Amino acid sequence: MEQLKGKVVLLTGGSRGIGPIIAEALAKRGANIALAARSKSGLQDVATRLGELGSDAFVMPVDLGQASQREELVATVLREFGQIDVLINNAGLETEGAYTDLSWSSIRETVEVNLIAPMALTHLVLPEMLKRNAGHIVNIASIAAKSGAPYAATYSGTKAGLAEWTRALRLELADTGVRFSTIFPGYVREIGMFAKFGMRSPLLVGSCTPAQVAKAVVHAIEKGRVEKIVNSPPLRYSFMINELSPSIGDWMMRVSGLAEFQRRKVGK
Ligand SMILES: NC(=O)c1ccc[n+]([C@@H]2O[C@H](COP(=O)([O-])OP(=O)(O)OC[C@H]3O[C@@H](n4cnc5c(N)ncnc54)[C@H](OP(=O)(O)O)[C@@H]3O)[C@@H](O)[C@H]2O)c1
Repeated sequence: MEQLKGKVVLLTGGSRGIGPIIAEALAKRGANIALAARSKSGLQDVATRLGELGSDAFVMPVDLGQASQREELVATVLREFGQIDVLINNAGLETEGAYTDLSWSSIRETVEVNLIAPMALTHLVLPEMLKRNAGHIVNIASIAAKSGAPYAATYSGTKAGLAEWTRALRLELADTGVRFSTIFPGYVREIGMFAKFGMRSPLLVGSCTPAQVAKAVVHAIEKGRVEKIVNSPPLRYSFMINELSPSIGDWMMRVSGLAEFQRRKVGK
């Protein structure tokens, strides 16, 4: 059991959505949190709430799509706190729409923020973690990593890449003391990139709350859980079937209403 009390957590996507809920859950367990995102005012509001919970919160406005800003972020947090115990790659972009309608620059930006940035931040924090034989990287993927969602092809690709890259590193660094976890949230209600559509996901597809995602992150760190799907059960079984027969998996994605739901979500 890894205690979070006094640990230094670098959390990306800390300005809005699920990030602040994760941050509050960690702060309640005594972690000190460095929050990164582009919106300075969003970060400061969250930091104020964390301070009220007794956390030593630090904010750093950065565009994670920029390599130099990622480097500056890690260097600054290391200078401020001396070490980074936990990196949570939570920032993400959705960029939904018909693939051919999207501009190449928006597709590239999604890959940069969702996949390249977690890889780069991990590359930057790992040397210091490996020196201490300790540390934890938690990556927030999505159920779209388990089964690609139409009208979110780039998003699905980045999340599937994130998940398997995490698994590979977990195996590669298994004897080092540095741990890796992947969280796969379903459609998140109340706040965040799905909630802003104001739609209810199909019954068979299910959903989850931001608090459940935050709980999964805390469990991943405290209990060393390597992967967790955060979603009501039916969809989970379809992922198993998907592994055995992708064509039956495709059929299930259609009968569950997910494919049609994704189409309606982007107004097609
Ligand atoms: N909501 C869901 O239903 C759902 C489901 C499955 C997985 N997820 C995953 O959960 C994570 C959080 O999602 P969310 O719903 O909280 O999203 P959100 O409400 O859209 O928030 C995204 C966060 O990422 C930050 N961000 C975006 N682009 C950035 C950039 N270029 N540089 C720095 N920060 C950037 C945003 O801050 P700024 O705009 O201030 O930069 C914000 O803090 C994402 O990885 C998402 O893929 C969400």
